[in-house]
Amino acid sequence: MIRPFRKYVLKCPRCGYEVEPSPFVMRCPRCGELLDAVIDSGKVRLKWGELKGRGVWRYRDLLPELSRVITMGEGSTPLIKLRKYPNVYVKFEGANPTGSFKDRGMTVGVSLAATLSVKGVIVASTGNTAASAAAYSARAGLECVVVLPKGSVARSKLAQAVLHGARIVTVPGTFDNALEYVLDLVLGNNAVNGINYYPLNSINPWRLEGQKTTAFEIVEEVGVPDFVFVPVGNGGNIYAIWKGFRELLELGVIDKVPKMVGVQAEGAAPMVKYWRGLGEARVDNPRTVASAIRIGRPVNWFRAYRAVKYTDGLFLEVSDEEILRAQGMLGREGIGTEPAGAASLAGYLKALSEGFVDLDDKVVLIATGHALKDPDVLLQGNPQFVEISSLDELMQLISK
Ligand SMILES: Cc1ncc(COP(=O)(O)O)c(C=O)c1O
Ligand SMILES: [Zn+2]
Repeated sequence: MIRPFRKYVLKCPRCGYEVEPSPFVMRCPRCGELLDAVIDSGKVRLKWGELKGRGVWRYRDLLPELSRVITMGEGSTPLIKLRKYPNVYVKFEGANPTGSFKDRGMTVGVSLAATLSVKGVIVASTGNTAASAAAYSARAGLECVVVLPKGSVARSKLAQAVLHGARIVTVPGTFDNALEYVLDLVLGNNAVNGINYYPLNSINPWRLEGQKTTAFEIVEEVGVPDFVFVPVGNGGNIYAIWKGFRELLELGVIDKVPKMVGVQAEGAAPMVKYWRGLGEARVDNPRTVASAIRIGRPVNWFRAYRAVKYTDGLFLEVSDEEILRAQGMLGREGIGTEPAGAASLAGYLKALSEGFVDLDDKVVLIATGHALKDPDVLLQGNPQFVEISSLDELMQLISK
């Protein structure tokens, strides 16, 4: 029998308490902090130059060992050099099977759920987690329940959840309220209760193991960048990517870790607030056009904070206008990302203008989701169409 977590220990980053790994324990029994899934590098056999296969499971030596793997080829996403900024690369996570980075986590999380005796999985979501959990559950033959903030999920994400057969529940308020429902339901005390639905929000450390592979792909393709810019909502992804770099450092594959920069939207920037010493990582009524990161109470705030703090990085905020401008700039480079995904470029431009990075620095921007996720935003500015009714008119138009 495979022991899925034999290379791991669950460790509290706050009080140091160690727990035997289990799919069901996510918080420290002593202090309540979210536990880190720490790999014992002595048990890893990985030879960096001899990896086989593609996508997330190319790095299986650094992932839980599962008896059943639900995969759709997630990962191995393009790293695209910008024309306008030749030292800047965009990691295009929109190229994943359901159009966002969440698939990297879901292939691991849903595979794990498929080995447990559960009926299905449950997630709260701003949309992409729902789309991804729905699709991967469908492949696994598991049920999927998604809890969404009513009226604030981008249309295509909702459509994906419908297509893949999830049960859709909406709640009043924001994502923060939706997550509260899920956490209250499944996490009694510190462990997941005996309910029949496995929670796959980013509090789940095993899901985040899949997301850390973004760092591995970057290193394989361009080595260690100076900076990685990540749009931050709940804070799981920036932590996961940092964790990936750190593991390679411990294994001696790389000799430094990039500075991690977390980018938030002005109206939904609890991490920026905390980073600047202006109180706890919490804002009420988060607002931004980038619905994927419209989050006021990031459950992974301490994880995200550590990623930035320990790499001498930064949290910064950008306006909706800057996000939409960055989305348009990427669009003109052929890269279609949803508003949240463009926050990383908006953050880079801000960091550049403030002198935190300079043009010589090697930078990776994570474009977290596909432009088609949120078509309404793209059509909001009343794009101008030219209407013609003859070939002559078309000839005239293009010869101008
Ligand atoms: C497109 C997109 N970008 C960024 C994020 C934020 O990721 P995290 O919540 O891990 O910080 C999300 C989360 O829903 C997302 O869907
Ligand atoms: Zn603790």
